[in-house]
Amino acid sequence: MTPPPVTLALSGAAGQIGYALLFRVASGEMFGPDTPVRVRMLEHPDALAAGAGVALELQDVASPLLVDVDVTADPRVAFDGADVAVLVGARPRTAGMERADLLSANAGIFGPQGAALNDVAGAGIQVLVVGNPANTNAMIAAAHAPDVPRERFTALTRLDHNRAVAQVALRAGVSPRDVTRVAVWGNHSPSQYPDLRHARVAGRAALDVVDRDWAEGAFIDSVAQRGRAIIAARGASSVASTATAVIQHSHLRRHGVPDGDWTSAGLVSDGSYGVPEGLVCSFPVTSVAGAWRVVPGLELDAFSRARIDASVAELVAERDAARALGHLDPVARSGARPA
Ligand code: NAD
Ligand code: LMR
Repeated sequence: MTPPPVTLALSGAAGQIGYALLFRVASGEMFGPDTPVRVRMLEHPDALAAGAGVALELQDVASPLLVDVDVTADPRVAFDGADVAVLVGARPRTAGMERADLLSANAGIFGPQGAALNDVAGAGIQVLVVGNPANTNAMIAAAHAPDVPRERFTALTRLDHNRAVAQVALRAGVSPRDVTRVAVWGNHSPSQYPDLRHARVAGRAALDVVDRDWAEGAFIDSVAQRGRAIIAARGASSVASTATAVIQHSHLRRHGVPDGDWTSAGLVSDGSYGVPEGLVCSFPVTSVAGAWRVVPGLELDAFSRARIDASVAELVAERDAARALGHLDPVARSGARPA
């Protein structure tokens, strides 16, 4: 029997990541090879024509999974009844910028979108924020959606997780499939902590396979600075690897993380591991019945504690800057979620 259609709302759908993602959605990679999908493209008014062009191309794929495609600049139209919202629409950084420099440019987008999600999205809405600074933008969106359970708001750190797994596999001379239980903690920024303390490489403790100096130094830097390295090399920020991470994040939530492994995602903190409640922080996670769960009970030694605390301090500073800019103030509403 054909599963019911999934309604995907994608902001920034005419941008680079949107273009890399949508055709893979239409081929069933994100929601499964038999699951029909309705695509709602949300774009800035200046990019509606470009969005309409992407919609024409999507039709030209003649995907049997694509039920319909709409393009709008109104979040309340795009999010109406949506099951999944992927919030990509935001300016990317360019050479010489840190992701936090995007706060003043982008954070204003996410309050109104959070409010619209609160009022019109489907009852089971799941939100993934990609636009940077992703953690703080997700926190802002969640803060404007008081009726949506907090755990439905996530920020993408699967890309950092993949980067970490790939670096370990290269270093150890194994397949990425042999690298498990990597954890990315903190902010999607240079302060993040990719952690190998609990990781396994082909069934052995990762720190018995790769040397500790590398794991505590060059490894962390290479993962945390990967976005910058790509911008320097390509002249533009990562696109295809990001689209892959978005697909994996969604797939792992819906279908679960393989036994014995975990992934990483930015979740609204419930105080786990001493991270202040309400911050959106990357944790090692699994998924149970379609809901993310922080991996419990991991021991954190002094090195890990200090690295996590440093990244959390940056998240606190971003939250305070967002508050000072008014992005946590209530936004104008034009109607409430129907009873
Ligand atoms: P892009 O400039 O190619 O596309 C951005 C799109 O967003 C444009 O089409 C633009 O018109 C649209 N947009 C702008 N304001 C909007 C609004 N208010 N509503 C809807 N759409 C709007 O950029 P890109 O390369 O696709 O990157 C998008 C964002 O993703 C950037 O902020 C980038 O830094 C971020 N990013 C995050 C990760 C991650 O792992 N979290 C990885 C890569 C990129
Ligand atoms: C990335 O990690 O590649 C993205 O967040 C883009 C950036 O600005 O680094």
